[in-house]
Amino acid sequence: MSKKPLNIAIAGIGTVGTGVVEIIQTQGELLSQRAGRPINIVAVSSRNQNKSRSVDLGGFTWYNNPVDIASDPSVDVVVELIGGADGVAYELCEKALKNGKHFVTANKALIARHGASLAKLAEENNVTIAFEAAVAGGIPIIKALKEGLSSNNISRISGILNGTCNFMLTAMAETGRDFDTILKEAQELGYAESDPSFDIDGVDAAHKLAILTSIAFGTKVDFESIYIEGIRNISLTDIKFARELGYKIKLLGICSNENGIFEQRVCPCLIPEEYPVARVDGVNNALFIQGEPIGKLVMEGPGAGKGATASAVIADIMDIARGCFSYAFNIPSSLLKKQDFVDITQHEGEYYLRILAEDKAGVLAGVTDILKDENISVSSVLQKSTAKGENAHIIVITHETFEQSIIKAVEKIEKIASVIKRPNVIRIESL
Ligand SMILES: NC(=O)c1ccc[n+]([C@@H]2O[C@H](COP(=O)([O-])OP(=O)(O)OC[C@H]3O[C@@H](n4cnc5c(N)ncnc54)[C@H](OP(=O)(O)O)[C@@H]3O)[C@@H](O)[C@H]2O)c1
Repeated sequence: MSKKPLNIAIAGIGTVGTGVVEIIQTQGELLSQRAGRPINIVAVSSRNQNKSRSVDLGGFTWYNNPVDIASDPSVDVVVELIGGADGVAYELCEKALKNGKHFVTANKALIARHGASLAKLAEENNVTIAFEAAVAGGIPIIKALKEGLSSNNISRISGILNGTCNFMLTAMAETGRDFDTILKEAQELGYAESDPSFDIDGVDAAHKLAILTSIAFGTKVDFESIYIEGIRNISLTDIKFARELGYKIKLLGICSNENGIFEQRVCPCLIPEEYPVARVDGVNNALFIQGEPIGKLVMEGPGAGKGATASAVIADIMDIARGCFSYAFNIPSSLLKKQDFVDITQHEGEYYLRILAEDKAGVLAGVTDILKDENISVSSVLQKSTAKGENAHIIVITHETFEQSIIKAVEKIEKIASVIKRPNVIRIESL
């Protein structure tokens, strides 16, 4: 092999960084054969040089300040595995691109916030910015959209994009333990951070969705316009009733373009249990893609973790080694459209409503009258007494209606004297 080696520098030797070093150190020969040239790590940087790590960094130049990597003339590719939308990760990215170095990252926050301007900067400097690992970890969804599905008009992507939430919802359903108990277990197993809010409030999934929307629809990355609802309000009671009605509850990130109406949202959804995505349990991620001419496609796999995420980082490095460059968001940044996305109140779909009320005659009639007033057509109703017997859950499944009507109905139902608390509303997703 006579080709010039590709020299990379890695900033951030944590979970993912260690995984990348390990793969290059143990699979170097295979990577060289497949890329047609050797891939060498020449420099690394992390916060603490004295920290004990599972990989040997002895042969590499050490930088105390990761941003200095961007000025090292021996470096062809900067691999950023630190994290964070701003600060050092952003500084490093900007400097690397300006200095004509390719940039690879797993940092969804950085790309969801600054993707459009960084893509432009990369083009201006004739380098690539690649972030396969930022969305759904080991599932090669970005490559699938940019390469295998490049001829398709994508109409919709629905994804389980956060392994922590999927683990929690699965564990609640399987063990019958409540949200707080399962969250604690997820933290003990290392699936949830000590501050789990980014995951359980849907922000992490929304970062990934913002990136997918841009690649699928040729729109400017627009994280701010995503409607985000996490899983804190999902109770064991909802999971049990959903199951009784033939559904599973999943946190989905959904982007769609239906006849020029664009929507992007992250929210818990009821999915018919026979659908492939409903069967994706535990920490796994999944993507359900609809497009023309492909039709429907499902991808499932590990959405996080050292090996899976490092595998995606290496895939981007391999592309660069082979000289396969593509636009960051599939088309030139100058062609990315500033798109308006519909407000969630305009959402149209079926809904699940759970109303907790005193177990008295006339409550159900009161609820159905309100739904009728708001032109909400009911598909089915279930009434179940609570364990102690004095209250009842009324579960309503609606036909397609507008979210605006549901909001009005919920406000009225909440005011019925015998209704104990605000009804729980979950959207039903027919994938
Ligand atoms: N973990 C996953 O499964 C996963 C999956 C998909 C995407 N990602 C993304 O991958 C990136 C890295 O995640 P991770 O899980 O590997 O994080 P991590 O284990 O916390 O590692 C972060 C690394 O960055 C270094 N670092 C932090 N601040 C720094 C600074 N100011 N200057 C220099 N180095 C600094 C840390 O240094 P020290 O080691 O010296 O403390 C550490 O090595 C993030 O963007 C994350 O969102 C992670």
